[in-house]
Amino acid sequence: MNSEKNHHTVIYCRNIKKTYGEGEAKVFALRGVDLDVYQNELLMLVGPSGCGKTTFVSIISALLKADSGECSVLGDDLSKLSDDKKNYFRSHSIGFVFQSFNLLPALTAVENVAIPLLIQGVKRTIALKEAKIVLDTVGLGSRTHALSGELSGGQQQMVAIARALVHKPKIIICDEPTSNLDHESGQQVMVLLRRLVKQENKTLVVVTHDNRIFYFADRMAYMDDGKIIKIENKNGAPQ
Ligand SMILES: Nc1ncnc2c1ncn2[C@@H]1O[C@H](COP(=O)(O)OP(=O)(O)OP(=O)(O)O)[C@@H](O)[C@H]1O
Ligand SMILES: [Mg+2]
Repeated sequence: MNSEKNHHTVIYCRNIKKTYGEGEAKVFALRGVDLDVYQNELLMLVGPSGCGKTTFVSIISALLKADSGECSVLGDDLSKLSDDKKNYFRSHSIGFVFQSFNLLPALTAVENVAIPLLIQGVKRTIALKEAKIVLDTVGLGSRTHALSGELSGGQQQMVAIARALVHKPKIIICDEPTSNLDHESGQQVMVLLRRLVKQENKTLVVVTHDNRIFYFADRMAYMDDGKIIKIENKNGAPQ
């Protein structure tokens, strides 16, 4: 029942194109991506290295601008948002787990997790308290005050995930969230993320190469050479 989609479209993309560089060095990263992502769903985006996955999820998160095409997220056409509205969108509506963590090494785990709340203007003591709760949820409560550079790769990934959740965004985008985790931690992360999607009506896009987590997906979108080439429904994903 829970895996039934309500077809409330949260992310709507049509013919998204993106190139990098100029002349001889020009790279066609996206060649016309069409994709809808719905509320309450966990969509996995898979495909070979260099096919455009990170570029695409950066565009739907308003971290990067498409050259052309329509990308509407939560009803807003991202190409038409003012800088102020785009900043608001990024800081309130999106939680992003980067392929390369992007933690600040001089800050502790809990301080890193609190960053999105501090950006929103939440008082420091409250932000740190909220951050601690989320760190506990991802099983890292015992490393609250460790500097991020003192954490293992897997622990850093957990901190990055906690940071993406702390401000309770409607959309969570994870770029390779389990690639640095052992099997059990990877499964734990996916159980947590999937619970959020189903119980709190979130929308989750996970870029992954990790076939051990494919069965958590509601749908799989296969990408190759800058395009979505196939979409597959996956029924019976674990709750
Ligand atoms: N800042 C950039 N400048 C120039 N080219 C870039 C830039 N970022 C990405 N590219 C190129 O765009 C293409 C798509 O890159 P992208 O990072 O989106 O792929 P990906 O599917 O995420 O790959 P991976 O699985 O290795 O992370 C690649 O050919 C890449 O080399
Ligand atoms: Mg990538």
